[in-house]
Amino acid sequence: MTLPLHPETALCSNLDRKDGHLRFAGQDTLKLAQTYGTPLYLMDEDRIRHNCRLYRDAFAECLPQGSMVLYASKAAAFRQMCRIVGEEGLGLDVVSPGEIYTAQTAGFPMEKVYYHGNNKTDEDIAFAMDAGVGCFVVDGVEELLALEAEAARRDLRQKVLLRITPGIDPHTYAAVSTGQVDSKFGVSIETGQAEPFVGLALAQPHLDVAGFHCHVGSQVFWEDVFERSVIVMMAFIRTIHDRWGYLPEELDLGGGYGVRYVESDPEIHIPRKIANLAETLYAISKRLDLPVPKILMEPGRSIVADAGMTLYTVGSVKEITGYKRYVSVDGGMTDNPRYALYGSQYTCFNAGRMEEPADVAFDLVGRCCESGDVIQPEVPFPAATKRGDVIAVCTTGAYNFSMASAYNRLLRPPVVMLRGGDAYVAVERETLQDMARLDR
Ligand code: LLP
Repeated sequence: MTLPLHPETALCSNLDRKDGHLRFAGQDTLKLAQTYGTPLYLMDEDRIRHNCRLYRDAFAECLPQGSMVLYASKAAAFRQMCRIVGEEGLGLDVVSPGEIYTAQTAGFPMEKVYYHGNNKTDEDIAFAMDAGVGCFVVDGVEELLALEAEAARRDLRQKVLLRITPGIDPHTYAAVSTGQVDSKFGVSIETGQAEPFVGLALAQPHLDVAGFHCHVGSQVFWEDVFERSVIVMMAFIRTIHDRWGYLPEELDLGGGYGVRYVESDPEIHIPRKIANLAETLYAISKRLDLPVPKILMEPGRSIVADAGMTLYTVGSVKEITGYKRYVSVDGGMTDNPRYALYGSQYTCFNAGRMEEPADVAFDLVGRCCESGDVIQPEVPFPAATKRGDVIAVCTTGAYNFSMASAYNRLLRPPVVMLRGGDAYVAVERETLQDMARLDR
């Protein structure tokens, strides 16, 4: 097992090294660990903005006017993230009152917020309407009727999209596949349930059906998954038009582009992908004699994943003679549950020993009281790795902070943003008092 000694050529342009130290966004990771303590989430603001612009510019170039990129805030939701994506002109995909509240209190334009989820309670619906959420993505008949009732009570017409299950397998891991027929999300085309669902929605006097939504999966590398979605959804639109005389203004294709966690992951060229998608969209619209709808997409991971890094401090190095070696750090499955949940791969470095060959395999484990608390197995680190060293785990910007837990009553790390050579705290480190705040 060999590790690239030049991380700057390996994963992302925001990684390099100087004087034997790993740098992130041009800053010395050891200094950052010293200044802010560990465990520590770092986020490269310039990279987030770069990723937003990749989508935004490709959309402006290739897709109909009014098409919009929504950042899927589930990937990493805190106020500064909402401000950054808002400044970049993106809309927002939210899934809970918590994400709505975060956006609202960050001053995000609520008319650009799309509210998803397969179980919105009556309270959630009222909360979202109070907050002025622009659009609800309706997951099924019960929600549709609950929305109609609440909109009628308020005497308003609520914009909605209808979530449709296109029956596409995204070829990713099961926990994040949603496009297949038996998904818990949306209403299926294949079973014949989607057509009457649309008819029912169109008959609601207080709902303004702007179009359809589908989302096939996450961490998807499969070649033409969005093109397939467009083909299936445009054929569905043709059927719906023939049956109900309705034409949608918007077609939301969800999120899902995969990112590189390890060198062997392929690289997705977002502008090229969007250009291909646009080509398919225009061709199929012409073939089916349909107007081209505005396209929405909801990237989460591909906006923030490579803008993130987690730093830890080694507490112990243990060798079980003849078996294996462990490096234990001061975080774990609480700040990054993705290996424990999905077996996800990560690229890891001993941040202060970048000149030493990384040729000994260690399991990188956390400090939680269970053996499943593995951040990454079989990581090549330098043989001299020891207590006090700083370990960097790359590409942790998506679904790490947002999936962090309080297991073992460990405290959540802060988020420090890096911007043009400066650093600032975007989310404070949790304190013992924060942790016990709700205890009686
Ligand atoms: N839109 C909808 C409706 C979604 O369900 C998701 C992700 C997205 C957009 C954003 O997808 P992305 O571009 O980030 O792939 N916790 C898992 C990922 C769960 C994704 C759930 N839905 C993980 O850590 O891999």
